[in-house]
Amino acid sequence: MKFIAFLLAALVAGPAAAADADLQRQCGECHAFEKPADATLDRLWTRKGPDLWYAGAKFNRAWLVKWLQKPTAIRAGGVMWFKHAKPGEPRDTIDPAGIAPHPSVDAAAADKLADALMTLTGGGIVDAAAFKPEGANLSMGKLAFGKLRGCTACHQEKPGTGGVSAPELYDAGERLQPGYVLAYTKNPQAFDPHIWMPRLELTDVDLQRITAYVASLKAGE
Ligand code: HEC
Ligand code: HEC
Repeated sequence: MKFIAFLLAALVAGPAAAADADLQRQCGECHAFEKPADATLDRLWTRKGPDLWYAGAKFNRAWLVKWLQKPTAIRAGGVMWFKHAKPGEPRDTIDPAGIAPHPSVDAAAADKLADALMTLTGGGIVDAAAFKPEGANLSMGKLAFGKLRGCTACHQEKPGTGGVSAPELYDAGERLQPGYVLAYTKNPQAFDPHIWMPRLELTDVDLQRITAYVASLKAGE
């Protein structure tokens, strides 16, 4: 009965609402599609997957469609890397056995789910116009990312090199919108008040360079 009521509601509301319902049903166990009213440390600690309430301001749609059909690991250490660190070894020796592969869907479903995800804009959390590509210096950005600002302690700019406690960024140019890269780098706690990425006091010039560099990274380069 419940299911029929649900189907009817989806039909009446049209295809967009049907896609949202799919998202909630297949994916809602592990992902938040609405900004958590109560973003506690405990919630961050126990969540099964990364938040997607700002997915539309974060991802490139083409990447989503591809990845949902053939997911690859983004966080080498899982959502909470220390839960997969081998006992007795340094924290970032990861045992991948405990990290389940991501569920995959077919092309038609990926297309619909990507549409639904792209509507989740996070209430304006990302200012897409804040990144100004003209003139940002890529090699200065690379230097800032690696040596000067220590981003590689947690992130990988090349597969297999760098930290495992945060998402890889070596395909960030394909995966992420530059405005999101800038917004996250500027203030990670705006996305989750308890996230362990430090908020650095970066100048706008630094932010622009780092964003330009991260947004230039493509898999296989
Ligand atoms: C059993 C839990 C689980 C289910 C069910 C699940 N996911 Fe995920 N999802 C994860 C985990 C864990 C990650 C992080 C993977 C990584 O970083 O390597 C993830 C990552 C993602 C990402 C990338 C997010 C990011 O910030 O990097 C997207 C997009 C995504 N999932 C969409 C979906 C969709 C759409 C569905 C439903 C078809 C779904 N997921 C079902 C656990 C789940
Ligand atoms: C102490 C570890 C740490 C350091 C150092 C760090 N980050 Fe992060 N970063 C994180 C964590 C943790 C996340 C979010 C984790 C998640 O979504 O699962 C994150 C997320 C990001 C994201 C969003 C990626 C995505 O897929 O959603 C970007 C962009 C980013 N960091 C850039 C940087 C830059 C640039 C620097 C250097 C100025 C940096 N980070 C330094 C831990 C770190």
